[in-house]
Amino acid sequence: DVPITVKDLAEKLSMRTSDLIKFLMLKLKLLANINQSLSHEIVAEVLKAYGYELVLPEKPDEIVRKVKKAGKGEQWKGRSPIVTFMGHVDHGKTSLLDMIRRTKVAESEHGGITQHIGAYEVKLPRGRITFLDTPGHEAFTAMRARGANATDIVVLVVAADDGIMPQTIEAYDHAKAAGVPIIVAMNKIDKPQANVDRLKKQLGSIGLLPEDWGGKTIAVGVSAKTGEGIDHLLEMILLEAEMLELKAPYDMEASGVVIEAKMSKGRGPVATILVQQGVLKEGDFVIAGYQSGRVRAMFNDLRQPIEEALPSQPVEVTGLSGVPEAGDHFYVVRDERKAREIVEQKQEELRRQRLEPLHKNHLRLEDLHK
Ligand code: GTP
Ligand code: MG
Repeated sequence: DVPITVKDLAEKLSMRTSDLIKFLMLKLKLLANINQSLSHEIVAEVLKAYGYELVLPEKPDEIVRKVKKAGKGEQWKGRSPIVTFMGHVDHGKTSLLDMIRRTKVAESEHGGITQHIGAYEVKLPRGRITFLDTPGHEAFTAMRARGANATDIVVLVVAADDGIMPQTIEAYDHAKAAGVPIIVAMNKIDKPQANVDRLKKQLGSIGLLPEDWGGKTIAVGVSAKTGEGIDHLLEMILLEAEMLELKAPYDMEASGVVIEAKMSKGRGPVATILVQQGVLKEGDFVIAGYQSGRVRAMFNDLRQPIEEALPSQPVEVTGLSGVPEAGDHFYVVRDERKAREIVEQKQEELRRQRLEPLHKNHLRLEDLHK
């Protein structure tokens, strides 16, 4: 599934390319040229703005999810916390994660992270943490919602010089909707313009009054530049995680969520997935979105091959028939023949839909690729 270009999308919508570029710039603050590929997320935003809707057949994974019963008597064991960094664009989410990697992981023999995948695993003396980084750009609402839904704890990053901004609020709303605890990281305290008191006041005004001001929110001053406060932030995260007593069933077919996926020239479809239940093993047959396949190889975030992945562990998987979408769920299916049947039927539906004429106000994603 090659993402659609600006030119093609404009053509499908019978609008001038320059108008679409203008729309992308003004409404989504995205600088795009005419041959640039747009992500599904952006395409969906454009369609919505122009009164269209994406209509897709039900995904095989959703069918399996419905069929699958939550079994009883599984063996529940502890798992490491999944922590998602969210916040306004440029407030320092990625820099903080970089710093956490450098200061912490460098000390540890087995731990580590990599930037190839959107998820990072860090091993601390007191245990592992899986970190998810999300974009702050306003166009990526869906990605933030997914980040909030796949996580145990949200770290809301707010730059202390900038203060609370639109996507700070939006990220906070996602975290609230997902019902996960929030820790505030007041970042960039090294900057002369940083104003922590003003930020605390702002936090109070949106219902996140810090503890030291009589509220209930843990708000930690940090700097991704100097490293100040990062140890304290990690401590707070681990403390919160301990209180959550996170557990997952281990002895069942693995399932989880696709963090990101791409087509690799040498390796074929490569998906970064987060295991949420069960233990994923090499050779397992999985359904992910509209795709399926046998797990050929798995890599941890250090790019080392591994044979199994535990709950909370992010892994890169090869062997799928095609590229699933970020946010798709994946499931291990024992009845491979049945699974193939379902997937093939849905693939066929997709193909058939491709040939149907466009209905007004019912533009399908496949139609865009014709
Ligand atoms: P998006 O992913 O686009 O939402 O941005 P982000 O939140 O990941 O921000 P990123 O880490 O890319 O940082 C944005 C800019 O702020 C970069 O130029 C960083 O170097 C700078 N920056 C981040 N943290 C700090 C900090 O603690 N102090 C200072 N002085 N600069 C920082
Ligand atoms: Mg970033």
